[in-house]
Amino acid sequence: MPMWPSPMKCQRILFYSVMLLFSSARIHCAISSDGEALLSFKTMIVGSDGIFLHWRQEDPDPCNWKGVTCDTHTKRVIYLSLANHKLIGSLAPEIGKLNRLKLLSLHGNSLYGTIPPELGNCTDLQQLYLQGNYLSGIIPLEFGNLLELETLDISSNALSGSIPSSLAKLTKLKSFNASMNFLTGTIPSDGALFRFTENSFVGNRGLCGKQVGIECKDGSLSPSANSESPSPGSPPSRKNSTKLVISAVATIGALLLVALMCFWGCFLYKKFGKGDIGGLAVDVSGGASIVMFHGDLPYSSKDILKKLETLNDENIIGSGGFGTVYKLSMDDGNNFALKRITKTNDGLDRLFDRELEILGSIKHRYLVNLRGYCNSPLSKLLLYDYLPGGSLDEALHERSEQLDWDARLNIIMGAAKGLAYLHHDCSPRIIHRDIKSSNILLDGNLEARVSDLD
Ligand SMILES: *[C@@H]1O[C@H](CO)[C@@H](O)[C@H](O)[C@H]1NC(C)=O
Ligand SMILES: *[C@@H]1O[C@H](CO)[C@@H](O)[C@H](O)[C@H]1NC(C)=O
Repeated sequence: MPMWPSPMKCQRILFYSVMLLFSSARIHCAISSDGEALLSFKTMIVGSDGIFLHWRQEDPDPCNWKGVTCDTHTKRVIYLSLANHKLIGSLAPEIGKLNRLKLLSLHGNSLYGTIPPELGNCTDLQQLYLQGNYLSGIIPLEFGNLLELETLDISSNALSGSIPSSLAKLTKLKSFNASMNFLTGTIPSDGALFRFTENSFVGNRGLCGKQVGIECKDGSLSPSANSESPSPGSPPSRKNSTKLVISAVATIGALLLVALMCFWGCFLYKKFGKGDIGGLAVDVSGGASIVMFHGDLPYSSKDILKKLETLNDENIIGSGGFGTVYKLSMDDGNNFALKRITKTNDGLDRLFDRELEILGSIKHRYLVNLRGYCNSPLSKLLLYDYLPGGSLDEALHERSEQLDWDARLNIIMGAAKGLAYLHHDCSPRIIHRDIKSSNILLDGNLEARVSDLD
């Protein structure tokens, strides 16, 4: 009998002890409830300038995260400052769980969707900055619970509906701005909102009340309570003509509002519509142009654009952080790969320009061949030779039987020659910085082509 446990047993023991380690670690490292709420908040944000990089689940509390400040004793989050960080996304209702929050500043981002009523649970809030986003829907009635509030700025959004009368309870309010929205109806004149002037309400076509010097008389201007009562004291003949003028003004106002909203909609669509919605037809319909390199393709720009319009999800052959890759088959049987980079991100735009600049100027047997590009209003499209062998990564992990040692050596030599060309023959030298098997593509003869230069 052997003295040592068999290798199988050893493995099992190791496995269990690792499991034990992990499970105890998990119990030990459970993040605080504020941390959990912030992670929920983060999941609804789909884009940023990288501020969330070190917001990690493993941390015991969120107190060292960028933008977060905690109370030193209670470790509860008191400030959340994420203004001007290119945040794209909507506001998670879990933000209401940060109920010791004193300051929330999210202004100057691209937040859309409604303001969650749960924010009314953060009753310690003193400063609330939401201006300069694309928030829509109504101002939550629950804001009336924020009795400590001193500053409330919701200007320059797409908020609609009326200003809730509950805001009259905010007696500590020193600064209030609801300008540049689509608010309508009567501004509550009793309580806290009385002391604010026209400056706090500019750019809302449908508001009336003492603060803006517009009396709420007509139903179409103020759909609230006093709309029913006819204006007392004005003679009947004048009343009719004022009514006419007011309804005309209201109609024009409504039309302008619709136009504004259309405009806003287009803007939002341009900004967030990833273009994935309507296939490539949307991309190339609005004034796209094609530039070809090395001038050796027998197609006109028109042929190519026409083909691009027919591409859809079924033609996708790959996707990644950079964008989506489509297979483009021309009528004569030639295939190309089309890389599509959506124009939403400055970083990616720069990446594109750089890749273009490099690839357009070089050509080598062991580098992917860039044939041309198309700069459409919504995205950037790069046209490469199609490589039927796929990536080395796929070949290694999905069809490894295809790759004998000679083939592998040949691929390594090819990739090395491609890199050597970039390092030694290009001026200035080009450093790839992301060499990995998924960036080495294979042609029909299993020859390597280095791709994704940046
Ligand atoms: C927070 O507010 C929402 C709606 O305003 C309410 O339904 C919910 O119960 C509140 N949650 C807590 C924990 O107070
Ligand atoms: C409110 O915001 C608007 C638009 O940003 C600005 O023009 C206005 O001066 C602000 N009003 C106050 C009182 O700060």
